[in-house]
Amino acid sequence: MIYSGESLSVTKSDKGVAHLIFDRKSESVNKFDRLTVAEFTAALDKLDVTTGITGLIISSAKGVFVVGADIGEFTAVLKETDDRIAAHLLPHSDNLRRLEKLGYPVVVAINGFALGGGLEVCLACDFRVASELAVVGLPETGLGIIPGWGGTARMPRVAGVQTALEWITSGRQQKAQAALDARVVDFLVPADGLLAKTESVMADCQRGALDYKAARASKESAAAETVAEAQRIGDAWTIDVAAKFGAHFPAQGCATQSVLQGLEKSLDEALLVERQRFVDAAKTWQARALIGNFLSDQYLMKCARERAKTVTAPVKVAGVLGAGIMGGGIAYQSAITGTPVIMKDINQDGLDLGMGQASKLLSKRVKTGRMTEEKKAAILALITPALDYDEGFKKIDLLVEAVVENIRVKHAVLTDVESRINPSAIICSNTSTLPITDLAEPLARSPQFCGMHFFNPVHAMPLVEIIRGARTSEQTINRAVAYALSLQKKPVIVNDCPGFLVNRLLFAYFAGFLQLVYDGGDFEVIDKVMEKWGWPMGPAYLADVVGLDTMQHCDDVLGAAYSNRLRKEFKSWYQVVIDMGGLGQKNGHGFYRYSFVDGRPAKIVDAEVKARVTALAKPARSFTEDEIVERLMIPMAIEMAIALEENIVASPAEGDVALLYGVGFPPFRGGVARWMDTVGLRSFCAMADQYTGKLGLLYEVTPRQREMAVNNETYYS
Ligand SMILES: NC(=O)c1ccc[n+]([C@@H]2O[C@H](COP(=O)([O-])OP(=O)(O)OC[C@H]3O[C@@H](n4cnc5c(N)ncnc54)[C@H](O)[C@@H]3O)[C@@H](O)[C@H]2O)c1
Repeated sequence: MIYSGESLSVTKSDKGVAHLIFDRKSESVNKFDRLTVAEFTAALDKLDVTTGITGLIISSAKGVFVVGADIGEFTAVLKETDDRIAAHLLPHSDNLRRLEKLGYPVVVAINGFALGGGLEVCLACDFRVASELAVVGLPETGLGIIPGWGGTARMPRVAGVQTALEWITSGRQQKAQAALDARVVDFLVPADGLLAKTESVMADCQRGALDYKAARASKESAAAETVAEAQRIGDAWTIDVAAKFGAHFPAQGCATQSVLQGLEKSLDEALLVERQRFVDAAKTWQARALIGNFLSDQYLMKCARERAKTVTAPVKVAGVLGAGIMGGGIAYQSAITGTPVIMKDINQDGLDLGMGQASKLLSKRVKTGRMTEEKKAAILALITPALDYDEGFKKIDLLVEAVVENIRVKHAVLTDVESRINPSAIICSNTSTLPITDLAEPLARSPQFCGMHFFNPVHAMPLVEIIRGARTSEQTINRAVAYALSLQKKPVIVNDCPGFLVNRLLFAYFAGFLQLVYDGGDFEVIDKVMEKWGWPMGPAYLADVVGLDTMQHCDDVLGAAYSNRLRKEFKSWYQVVIDMGGLGQKNGHGFYRYSFVDGRPAKIVDAEVKARVTALAKPARSFTEDEIVERLMIPMAIEMAIALEENIVASPAEGDVALLYGVGFPPFRGGVARWMDTVGLRSFCAMADQYTGKLGLLYEVTPRQREMAVNNETYYS
């Protein structure tokens, strides 16, 4: 044994080949945190003083190779000075440089995930052997930073400028075959032949059949392309990246510069450039937000898994009442993730629609080669359509009610079904507006009742709000969380209130929109400004996609529940368009007209709707982009503050993740609580105060927010 640590060990074989093996004790994955980096340095120190070594093989004893740096350690680093951020990278950057200067060949065996720092260590080796199960990539730009351990300097030297730019700016994970095709790895073998092949590559290096010194030398100087060729690729790419990512994702620009600026330099100089560009990216608020999203997601999923672990009886059979848009979607998701489901409706047409929808989604997978016909049939067979309550209902462990949004109908359906299913089963409602405590009123098993609010379309939207009613037991919440996880969804637990968390926040935002249009704002301009700010669709377009009847219904319910803030003195624009026959995208007519051009959906402003809105609103006037953003975002932000103060959601992290996964909040802004931190509570309060006098309580910050502003507090530490 040459070295033995918590994260890695180094041994020496009879033939003098040293084996460095990553195997972090008591953790499921290997990562580069401070401990691993320090141990890597210590292992290199030991190698330096060990005689008789003829080569070094690096591998992993876990199912993954190395999943990357420890992002949790980064949040503190990001707040440091430029020099200290750069200094944080140095120890491991030096480690990898030392690998390239060892007096013997270095070959790596990549058995599984080698991402970020995991791939960067591979790039510093002389030859890379990958198993067919390997997945590699440099995902840092997705976190608002850039590879900082030589990824942008070595990748163009190993695989060419084009691949380096594509891989690094997309951050995409790549399968082993793609890595071989792109020359990022040198050899590809079946998983069970990985070590044998790595050893034979090592033997080839030792006897001179493979020239490891040439492989090393080729990385030391400028990249492989001619200067003119690299310039051409670089210029085109810079324009592309600016158009695709723009100012919202500065890391992609920094990564592009890092690759291009390092091309004609020595490797050491290129590494220096990379560290400077790393600091540029790391200092941005986007990096803080994107890393924050990653950590919030990890926190959310860890809490959810802990709850799921307490559940002794997993859902073996699920039930869904109502085979409409939502019920059909939930049944599909249950089946495709392996839980059999009984789907009941009161009419055959509903059932046909639900089954048809599931079949259509599966057929798409078959068509794109992601699924066989047999598998499709097996998944469809997991959905049992039913018009009556038959014997099968006794087997249901968890039932989701997704019938029409009417409390009388829901009460009737829920009381009826609870007498027909197993007494230990839990019942969840997918209501979008009705309080769970009110729905539980007539139920005999109200402790076994909670909300499970899915988002449309169910298969595509990751969020599920799990709603705790006044009498819901924690075990019920845990069982619903466990089922949501089995459906591969992200469960956020919220306490009961009208609109729960996401719709409550969203309708505060929409209240700002309705008022702005009433005050003479042009909805088309507002859409463009909000899309530029980062929303996937502006509010008028989003309202059309949701459906104007649904929007109006939610607006009525939430307007009544939060009348002090959401009250308005004019007819809502949804109702105005509904009165003109528009229901939104579903009937091709909403704020916009929808049609198909060359088989693709297209939208144009409906001149009649625009004229009608203009006639009913105050005289048209223009608003600055800042004013438009502020008038929509401030109400949402204040509603988040109130929801946190009322303990509707437990933490800013969970609240923000719910917005990211439920309504596509711009990810680089990290959610609305994060946005308030970015603006600063002091500036936020001053910004809101400009509107309170004219626009009322929708813009009134809470006393706690004022206190936070005075104390320089933030929502995130
Ligand atoms: N559509 C959305 O975007 C969305 C999003 C989240 C939550 N929700 C909520 O989900 C629920 C369902 O909405 P939807 O959009 O799927 O509605 P939908 O109109 O598409 O489907 C409702 C289905 O329930 C069936 N139904 C009515 N009474 C029934 C009964 N007694 N037993 C069994 N089936 C019955 C109807 O035949 C219909 O097929 C509502 O509570 C809604 O608020 C909807």
